[in-house]
Amino acid sequence: MVTRSDFPEDFVWGASTASYQIEGAHDEDGRAPSIWDAFSHTPGKVIGGATGDVACDHYHRYKEDVALMRQAGFTAYRFSVSWSRILPEGHGAVNAAGLDFYDRLVDELLANNIAPWLCLYHWDLPLALHENGLGWTSREIVPLFADYAGLLADRLGDRVTHWATFNEPNMFTMLGYGAGVHAPGIRDRDRWLDAVHHVNLSHGAAVRRLRDQLPRGAQIGSVPNLQPVRPASDNDQDKEAAAKMDAVMNRATADPVFLGKYDPLTREWMGDRIRPDDEAAIFEPLDWLGLNHYSPHYAAARANMFGFRSMGPPEGAEKTLMGWHVAPDAFREILVETSKRYEVPVYVTENGMADDVEPDSQGQVKDDARISYLDRYLGALLEARAEGADIRGYLVWSMLDNFEWAMGYGPRFGVVHVDYATQVRTPKASYHFLAALARASPNA
Ligand code: FCB
Repeated sequence: MVTRSDFPEDFVWGASTASYQIEGAHDEDGRAPSIWDAFSHTPGKVIGGATGDVACDHYHRYKEDVALMRQAGFTAYRFSVSWSRILPEGHGAVNAAGLDFYDRLVDELLANNIAPWLCLYHWDLPLALHENGLGWTSREIVPLFADYAGLLADRLGDRVTHWATFNEPNMFTMLGYGAGVHAPGIRDRDRWLDAVHHVNLSHGAAVRRLRDQLPRGAQIGSVPNLQPVRPASDNDQDKEAAAKMDAVMNRATADPVFLGKYDPLTREWMGDRIRPDDEAAIFEPLDWLGLNHYSPHYAAARANMFGFRSMGPPEGAEKTLMGWHVAPDAFREILVETSKRYEVPVYVTENGMADDVEPDSQGQVKDDARISYLDRYLGALLEARAEGADIRGYLVWSMLDNFEWAMGYGPRFGVVHVDYATQVRTPKASYHFLAALARASPNA
């Protein structure tokens, strides 16, 4: 098993969450709906008709949750802000009560010696923007996103040192605007490509605004989901499909942001969406890359809008409840490749696995499979470091069991179990496993 002394002294240990997945309080204190409120309330979109109306009730229980982070020895917590909680229309009038919540959360974290890592966007676009034609498919969103970033920098910039623009821009554009299985449920190749480009432009505009407004030394980054893509078979069509999937999943948002250039395939697909100065406008120097990774992807050729289909892992492979392949070596591979390709410090900002383990008769949650997963993935991270990859921290997904998007509340990703009926939190065995590593940290 990995031990604390395998990691450098200043290695960062922490956890990640996202606003819509944990906060609840969906209509309290002036919060307006996001596209995820509308989507989850549309019958048939989420398994079991689940919504984020209450979720983990973190809005009211954040102090208890922060106390659990401190007890684990975590010194970093990545959370996201609900845009429609602070700007109900997405722009214009500010909801002071909404901003106050993040103010309280940040103060609580700092009082517990935990650095707040604030992510501006983890998928919950204000519904008003979408309905008024100002969502990601419109270029007009770019200055609105920068203004939203500026508002947060203004209010929290004196205390928040780590900022991320987007969580998994590659995933939410594809799932929400291409495949249509996430909010806002659009299934259209052109709208998908529009969304990708406008998200990239919004990133650049927000970084410029943050740099202008934040104190010197603020650490600004972005959080793509990256994974090796393998062909589902040996045939040439599937190999070509894997190359396409690699471009779409790994390059379309990360390359312009971290290298200043679209990859050739995405560029061809984008056509005249890319105006002459756009790549320069997207590319702003960044301090860190947050890497989210769960498993390798498998691609087969299909005559659909993408030219590929995502397939399950090979026969007999070890899988999680999500059907995702447990393959630590793919993690090592993508860590090494990412560090080399983008030449920027990398923090793992999401990694973990889903199960459905409940407390036993003694009230203990024995999630041994998760411990084994975390141990092997952390081992792979150490191997990547030994190969020269600049990996500086590990934030597990997730602090709490939560609303797993279209899958509802079935898959449990937390290192803390949540009983959704009573909101009782129970740290799992995996929580204690990570705490043993984090608590031994000189900074904890
Ligand atoms: C990632 C998302 C996160 C969570 C995990 C399981 O793609 O960023 O919100 O759903 O997957």
